[in-house]
Order: sequence, then structure tokens, then C-alpha cells
Amino acid sequence: MHLKIFAVLFSLIFRSTFAYAGSLSFNFYEQSCPLVEHIVRTSLRSISLTDPTTPAAILRLLFHDCQVQACDASILLDPESDMFQSEMSSGKNFGIRKRETINLIKTEVEVVCPQQVSCADILVLAAREAIAMSGGPMIDVPLGRRDSSTSPNFRQADASLPAANIGLDDTLQLFAKKGMTVGESVAILGAHTLGVTHCFNIESRLYKPEVDKIDPQFEFFLKMNCPLGSFTSNTSFIVNDPTTLSFDNQYFVNSLNGHGVLRIDAEMPLDPRTAPFIQKFAYDEEVFFQAFSSAFVKLSSSNVLTGNQGVIRTNCNRLY
Ligand code: HEM
Repeated sequence: MHLKIFAVLFSLIFRSTFAYAGSLSFNFYEQSCPLVEHIVRTSLRSISLTDPTTPAAILRLLFHDCQVQACDASILLDPESDMFQSEMSSGKNFGIRKRETINLIKTEVEVVCPQQVSCADILVLAAREAIAMSGGPMIDVPLGRRDSSTSPNFRQADASLPAANIGLDDTLQLFAKKGMTVGESVAILGAHTLGVTHCFNIESRLYKPEVDKIDPQFEFFLKMNCPLGSFTSNTSFIVNDPTTLSFDNQYFVNSLNGHGVLRIDAEMPLDPRTAPFIQKFAYDEEVFFQAFSSAFVKLSSSNVLTGNQGVIRTNCNRLY
């Protein structure tokens, strides 16, 4: 009996004193918040009705969150003071939108299940809804992430986020660190089937000494839309593929035809390591969806906070 009481006490003290890692699971909120997936779905769908570019913004938001520290909702944190340059101050976060949308959904979740669901999980659920509602696969995602209890600064974001003109070797290394195969790394870049790229982000590709080959006609089109020295390069943009609101395999068809907008989009069909996957995904959308789903789970599960690590924030934009 004494031994049992001692064991319970020890476990309570141990739990509160030391951080321990748990694991993600597919039924994590089954008891504590069974409605969470439904709330995220209905909320995101109604927000997207008024702004159909929301899914693209949410999907990129997730990637940029996961790249800095982990998928811990740190990207949602507002700077604590005027002096503090938070993750969002990094130039590589240029164009990141819809951080407030996740907090809006969180507010709805808090009403039903207070202090149960992390902002990090809400962001992952919102991203997978964004994909599904745009015509992509409905991905089963494990849950149980916790939110960061510290705010990374812009230097961490600068060091962890890829530059707009990153090349293939560095890209494959970046995704290999998350356990992705080459095929999955190609598939995850199929996220660029949604959304836009601002001219600012392709200037170095168009006007600096040639870093990669561009189809001459497509180069002409890009230069017409993004002229050198334009004062509007922060606001003018190119759609990432012609079906910019649909999650489909058009991005790969585009890449194969030499119409990749970013350097990496253009390099993949020309490299023997990645070309076979580009062809496969361009030919068969279902094969792309399968590889993307598996890559998405790896991206969103890598190096996350679980157990009693981190916190569950009540307001996603603030630490306390
Ligand atoms: C090597 C890796 C990657 C690089 C270099 C890269 C770079 C970029 C750049 C430069 C833009 C344009 C931003 C703008 O001008 O507003 C963009 C947009 C986008 N990226 Fe990526 N990206 C990468 C990987 C990913 C991944 C893994 C995802 C998601 C899983 C993703 C999702 C998106 C989406 C959805 C957009 C459109 C955003 C919008 O329209 O608001 N990207 N990316």
C-alpha cells in the first residue's frame, strides 16, 4: 500500500518537474474534444467563402511554422514588445497571411473544449482541411502537439526557412531531415499547386546572372509581369499554376513544360533524381495525392512538442 502511494506521488512530482515526451495519435481528442475536427472544418469553410485564397495561405503558414523549431504554433506569436523582432520579422516570411484565422478558429474551439486543444494542432487540422476543400486528398493526421512556450526571434526564422531561390540539393537535404524520401520531397512541393508568388521573390531568378534555365517564352511572360525595378514587386504576383485555387497535379504538368515559377520548380524536372517523380505525378494525380499525404504527415509530425512539453495556449497570438 505504502509502495503504491509512493509510486503515485513520485509520478506526480516527476510529471510536474520534468518535461516528458508523449506521442501523437489519431484519436488524441476523442475524449477531451471530440468536436474539434468538425469545428475547424466548418469554420475554415465559411472563412474561405469570403476569401478563396485562404487555403493557400494556411498551407504555407503551416510549412513556415514547422520549419522554425517545430510545428508548435510559434509563427502565430505577436512580438512581445516593440523591441522584440519575432519570427514574423524575418524577410523569408514575406507574404505569410491568415495568422489571425487560426486564432479565430481557436476561439471557437475554446468555447466547447477550454484549454484542451493546442494552436499547433488547430493549424495542422486547418491545413489538411485547406487541402481537402481545394480538391486534394483528405489526410488522416495524428494529433497531440503542444504549443511553444517561447518566442523564436527573426534570426532563427532566417536560418531555418528556405530562401526563395534555393537549389535542389539543399531542398532535398531540408526534407530528408524530416524523414522524407526523394519522391515525398517532390510531392510536398506540389503544395505550390495553390496560391501565388510575388515578383519580389523571383527577381533574382529573372534578372541576376542565370542560375537555372527558363523556357524563353515563359521567361518573357514572367518579365512582362514582373519588370525590373518595378515599385510594385511587393504587391504584383504570378499564380503558381493556372488552376491556382485547385489542389491538383497541374503544378507538375507546368513544371514538365518548363513553366515552373521558382528555381526549384524549374530544376526538379531536369535532374535525374527528381525527374521520374515529376513525370509520375504529372501523369497520375492519385499517385501524387498518396505521396503528398505521406509527406504531409512527416512534415507536420517532425520534432514536435508532446506530453507535458510546451503549453496549450488560450490565445494563439500570445504566450500568456
Ligand atoms: C524548398 C522549399 C520551398 C520554397 C523555397 C518555397 C518558396 C515559396 C515562395 C517564394 C512562395 C511565394 C511567396 C510569396 O511571394 O507570397 C511560396 C508560396 C507558397 N508555398 Fe512554398 N516553398 C517551399 C516549400 C513549401 C511547402 C513544403 C509548402 C507546403 C506544404 C509550401 C506551400 C506554399 C503555398 C501554398 C504557397 C502560396 C501561398 C499564398 O498564395 O499565399 N511551400 N513558396
